[in-house]
Amino acid sequence: MRDVLSVASECAPLVKTGGLADVVGALPAALKGEGVRVLTLLPGYPKVMAALGAASGTLLDEPELFGGPARVVAGQAAGLDILAIEAPHLYARECGPYLDPEGRDWPDNPERFAALSWIAARIAGGALPGWRPSVIHAHDWQAGLVADHLAKQGVSDVGTILTIHNIAFQGLVPAHRLEDLRLDPGRYTQGGFEYWGQVSMLKAGLTACDKLTTVSPTYANELMRPEFGMGLDGVMRERRADLAGILNGIDDATWNPGEDALIPAPYTRPRGKAANKAALREEFGLGEAAGPLCIVVSRLTEQKGIDLLIEALPVLLERGGQLALLGSGHRSMEAALNDAAAAHDNVAVRIGYDEALSHRMMAGADTILVPSRFEPCGLTQMYGLRYGTVPLVALTGGLADTVINASPMALERGVATGLQFWPADAEGLKNALSRLCDLYEAGPTFRQMQKNGMAQPVGWAGSAAAYARLYDEVGAR
Ligand code: ADP
Ligand code: GLC
Repeated sequence: MRDVLSVASECAPLVKTGGLADVVGALPAALKGEGVRVLTLLPGYPKVMAALGAASGTLLDEPELFGGPARVVAGQAAGLDILAIEAPHLYARECGPYLDPEGRDWPDNPERFAALSWIAARIAGGALPGWRPSVIHAHDWQAGLVADHLAKQGVSDVGTILTIHNIAFQGLVPAHRLEDLRLDPGRYTQGGFEYWGQVSMLKAGLTACDKLTTVSPTYANELMRPEFGMGLDGVMRERRADLAGILNGIDDATWNPGEDALIPAPYTRPRGKAANKAALREEFGLGEAAGPLCIVVSRLTEQKGIDLLIEALPVLLERGGQLALLGSGHRSMEAALNDAAAAHDNVAVRIGYDEALSHRMMAGADTILVPSRFEPCGLTQMYGLRYGTVPLVALTGGLADTVINASPMALERGVATGLQFWPADAEGLKNALSRLCDLYEAGPTFRQMQKNGMAQPVGWAGSAAAYARLYDEVGAR
């Protein structure tokens, strides 16, 4: 049995802003079947502390953690073994995990997340009674200082893995704060954590962890190219031998159309979607239409290509298609989407975050659109596959790895599951939307694609095994 400490800033269902939380929340259960025991270390945000409740007991006292006292408490929540850092000076704040009420990053985010790595290193050094991990699995820049803090604390007998969920978020900190973060100035070099005159908490992990992973094989290759590496492609090329792309799965108990309590009419075959579609149209105030009912469930950012969608939308509408969108993010995109909804009967928009609604949308739609400019893995296209909601996606990252494009040959062989387009620009998306409408009109072909998607395995089994092998490799040193 391997013991792994997973270290992350979010974890579904306790605290979530995106797919990172889904992965951190779902992987431990999948790893259990591989003989791996995972404890998940999280910041003690109010929601996390509330979920652990009175059952939690103090395991570790830390008198001075980046500006105040802290303790580590343990408990169970949502089937996960959680270790939470209770440090009110860092985490006892309402709102999301990263932003203040005005939507700006908290100025002390570097310290708030450095604390996560510091405590992870303490635990790896044996500070908890009765449990020590053989591997630390760190996620994204928020846990990027793990290897540096292990070195600082003189702990060397633990393996380290850093998973890159999105290289666009790098945790940049002015260089003068380096020692406040308990970092070694000797590593402030190009080969260390220096990044154009600043400290990059992500680069710290990229240059010091034993192994690196990212969340799809295609993104692993893309990361080594300047177009996708966000200035870190050189580092990725240097570490190519230690980099693996392991595809995310989805939590297929939560996302199961046959037993989903959040949808009006659970189903196991595409035709079972009809009742859900009718309910969805009613909920969004959309009438009957000749074309496909498309959905988007997404953060509204440049990454997600929402601006491309706004530009390409007329093509869908001219063919009698409809769009129902749920998302939040850039104010300008929210406004543009609301304008589109006001201008067209066949467009409906909900600005906000709503997990239950996202299930109803997945069940009721014909197609999910994911026109991302880059996408490390992406989860919503996999929910789409499972729900018989044909994904139309850009050919990048995990979107390339999870969808089988409806090329003439794939259609002829009956194996297509979705549509892909590239480059990720408005023209490409327009063409893809028009292909979608053709396929939708050719009824049986579209239904075959829905069936193929529903039959495709999108769970964690294979990837959990890949992580377990990696833990064996780094933990065996
Ligand atoms: P990313 O992590 O880049 O945002 P992913 O596709 O990996 O992209 O994960 C996004 C996750 O967040 C999915 O579980 C998706 O359903 C969910 N999500 C995104 N926006 C919303 C929203 N507005 N309401 C409900 N769920 C959302
Ligand atoms: C990031 C990526 C997304 C990925 C998720 C989980 O948020 O943007 O593509 O699915 O992490 O790994």
